Amino acid sequence: MKEQLREIRNAAESALAAVNTMQEIDELRVKYLGKKGELTALLKQMGSLSPEERPVMGQLVNEAKAALETLIGEKTAELKARATEEKLKAETLDITMPGKVSKSGKLHPLNTVLNDMIDIFQSMGFDVVDGPEVETDHYNFECLNVPADHPARDMQDTFYLGENLLLRTQTSAAQIRTMETRKPPIRVICPGRVFRADEVDATHSPVFHQIEGLVVDKGITMCDLKGVLEQFAHEIYGKDTKVKFRPSFFPFTEPSVEVDVSCSECGGKGCRVCKGAGWIEILGAGMVHPKVLKSCGIDPEEYSGFAFGIGLDRLTTTRYKISDIRLLFENDKRFLDQF
Ligand code: PHE
Repeated sequence: MKEQLREIRNAAESALAAVNTMQEIDELRVKYLGKKGELTALLKQMGSLSPEERPVMGQLVNEAKAALETLIGEKTAELKARATEEKLKAETLDITMPGKVSKSGKLHPLNTVLNDMIDIFQSMGFDVVDGPEVETDHYNFECLNVPADHPARDMQDTFYLGENLLLRTQTSAAQIRTMETRKPPIRVICPGRVFRADEVDATHSPVFHQIEGLVVDKGITMCDLKGVLEQFAHEIYGKDTKVKFRPSFFPFTEPSVEVDVSCSECGGKGCRVCKGAGWIEILGAGMVHPKVLKSCGIDPEEYSGFAFGIGLDRLTTTRYKISDIRLLFENDKRFLDQF
């Protein structure tokens, strides 16, 4: 039996010396130390020994068991250490490598300026409304007091899509659509694209952007118009900006004005941005014509209002000192990356 024990122990030790995986270790533990393992089987044979031999043999088997367990423990630790080392090697991080720059998308400069404008008007209690880009002659001209033979039609070269359909030349159609669907008090702005058959150059594009504003309520006067537009100009261009109201003409407002702001670049002295004038024209406005109110079912004896149309493109080119309006529409990545 001693011989047998020695053989088992030698075989187990050399098998353990050769293992490479945790699974192999587990298999050997079962093979030698398990319930049906070889050492356990040997212990079961002890009954056949004489009472003197039994404790001696018992001790030897227990020693062998303990030795194997120690060996298994050592081997397990060794394998674990090796695995950790390999993992660390595989995961080595070279902190001297250059990092990866992740590029995030950003807003087009027109949208940045538009968002600022929406914030300003919302803080003054205006709602934002939307209108169609394809309009009828009725909404774009007729209801705005520009009948078919009115000379003011010459002010806006129109893209007609058919007898009565056209690409809107101004966001002013939103005034009519709003007054048809809402009851005063009304306070809305309508930003959007407008279209005119203009020759393309550094300051003209057949597609550009306006923000129409409309206020209708009891007792609205020119003072309200001036107050709102001055407040807007100060928020967009800064507190020191001077605002100038010039008499003008629009068929749908009476009286009408055009509004200039002192050039933010030169402060009014005259420079390249303002083309030497010291002033930059930013919008047209006026008190809504009584005829327009009436055509929308609003009694001009009871209500009055003002409207304004701001050119978003001009505001954007002057804010960012962009010399050519075409850059806003060409989507050249090198240009857009600068914002
Ligand atoms: N619609 C006018 C234009 O495009 C601007 C404007 C809007 C004027 C509202 C007065 C009131 O020139």
